Amino acid sequence: MCGIVGAIARENVVPVLLEGLLRLEYRGYDSAGIVVTNGGLHRLRTTERVAELAKLVSNDKTEGFAGIAHTRWATHGVPCERNAHPHFSGNEKKIAVVHNGIIENHETIRQDLQEAGFEFLSDTDTEVIGHLVSKHLATTHDLLDAVFLAVAELRGAYAIAVMDEEQPGRIIVARNGAPLLLGLGENGNYAASDASALLQVTRKMVYLEEGDVAELYHDRYRIRTCDATTKLNSEVTRPVRESDLTREAVELGPYAHFMQKEIFEQPVAVANTLEMVLNAQSISPRLFGSKAEEIFQKTSGILILACGTSYHAGLVAKYWLESISGLPCSVEIASEYRYREPIANPSTLVVGISQSGETADTLAALNYAKLLGHDHSLAICNVPESALIRQADLRFLTRAGPEIGVASTKAFTTQLAVLILLTSVFAKLRNKFPSELEQEMLIGLRHLPVSIQLALQIEPQIKEWARNFSQKRHALFLGRGIHYPIAMEGALKLKEISYIHAEAYAAGELKHGPLALVDKEMPVIAIAPNDVLLEKLKSNLQEVRARGGELYVIADADSNIKESEGVHIIRLAGYSGMFSPMLHTIPLQLLAYHVALQKGTDVDKPRNLAKAVTVE
Ligand code: G6P
Repeated sequence: MCGIVGAIARENVVPVLLEGLLRLEYRGYDSAGIVVTNGGLHRLRTTERVAELAKLVSNDKTEGFAGIAHTRWATHGVPCERNAHPHFSGNEKKIAVVHNGIIENHETIRQDLQEAGFEFLSDTDTEVIGHLVSKHLATTHDLLDAVFLAVAELRGAYAIAVMDEEQPGRIIVARNGAPLLLGLGENGNYAASDASALLQVTRKMVYLEEGDVAELYHDRYRIRTCDATTKLNSEVTRPVRESDLTREAVELGPYAHFMQKEIFEQPVAVANTLEMVLNAQSISPRLFGSKAEEIFQKTSGILILACGTSYHAGLVAKYWLESISGLPCSVEIASEYRYREPIANPSTLVVGISQSGETADTLAALNYAKLLGHDHSLAICNVPESALIRQADLRFLTRAGPEIGVASTKAFTTQLAVLILLTSVFAKLRNKFPSELEQEMLIGLRHLPVSIQLALQIEPQIKEWARNFSQKRHALFLGRGIHYPIAMEGALKLKEISYIHAEAYAAGELKHGPLALVDKEMPVIAIAPNDVLLEKLKSNLQEVRARGGELYVIADADSNIKESEGVHIIRLAGYSGMFSPMLHTIPLQLLAYHVALQKGTDVDKPRNLAKAVTVE
């Protein structure tokens, strides 16, 4: 989604701003823009990629010591240059603003401002911010004060950066519900919505809190925050943190795409996530925080809230938590949960799963669950400084490293690894895990990275399959039991990046509808591990073959299914019990990736999608 970079330094900041935007491209965007101070505010915008913006900047010889830049993912108003950020306050070009998030009351504010004579040139909600700042500047004459007064009128979630033509040595940024951090460099100070945008200039980061407004000069910065009750603002200090993100972690290296890199990083990502148990003798609740044991002892059920791929991880966990720990578990799409009236149970632990920790619906759903009366929450998340991590009582950080490809891969398998640990902890606390089983689990976890490595070796066969898929317009994914959510995840991967319409069905439901769609044009991908449901699944596959459907079966070495005309089989190693869903997901990730390659789509930045969905 939208990205912000701001810079004020002793040198020309244009290269830093452009490089920052390039680093934020992965979040998804449909226009980009930049403004710098250079004897006035100088702006360039485009609906093309950041590379095109860089060309415009170079042709124009744009330079300046302070600037703000933005990638926009359209919410209010179509993607076009007029709607691209930065926005000026009307024709005067006095104030420039970039904004992430949504201003919910923009229509009312717009009306008031129009009545006061302000002219609007875009369809965005953002434009009201610039005008509000202009309005307040007329009375306060101080940009920081004007921004404070402006944000006090805004409702919604946002991060903004503002510049004033008449105060060129200063940038003001504000955070309320959307991520924003400062970067403290040798030659200047910076701001961004994501740390990866600033690694080129600094690793020293200051993460702003909700309600913070900061002013940046090239040699100093100041943060003030607004007290939610008194509405008064006072100066605060926030800790300076050394980011442990490396540039290599956010660079492609020898890979063609981030998705490819991230698929192949999974053995290491899972090993890093499980590091604390790989040499342990037992699995302790303390893995989830010092208060975890006390909270888990009182937990009578689990409610998982998540979106997208993270939701699929939750669906898999439901099978584990119920069958192994005997703990009732429900899993809900966060955007649905937050708008219904569920019955809360204080002793049901709410688990928010999110790669980014920024997904607006997941954050709101967790807050809502708390309001409804759930006593405790746990965050499973990949980003240490994210809102989700700060919001929850307990946390477990997946250590997948930055995930840049929009289609989530290593985040999913690391989430599953954590959910196996959570299941084991509850099984132990509830006396369902005798020590032999715990030891078996520890051995299984130690072998898991190698098992994933082995699963990755089927890539050449998947490439063969991918050739048959690139001309197809639809695909059906089938699974049963715990592999049904894996089929859902496989279908999501395929549709996200190859734009082939893909649907997942619980194989037992086939004859209740989707069988009507099956003909020789409909490839059917079946997840067929050698588990207790294999024989049932085989009957479902017969139903597909009998209607001429071409079958692509991901089986285990010991699944008793034979290759024949119209039945293609890829075999993983022998059945891996509880770990099976994690391994069966690997061929599906590779399939989506290779089909997208065949089709020539933009693998890492699929159309219309965003990496972190920070708006509803
Ligand atoms: C977006 C991404 C998906 C992701 C989902 C949830 O749709 O494109 O890959 O699964 O958001 O994101 P989260 O960061 O909360 O896991």
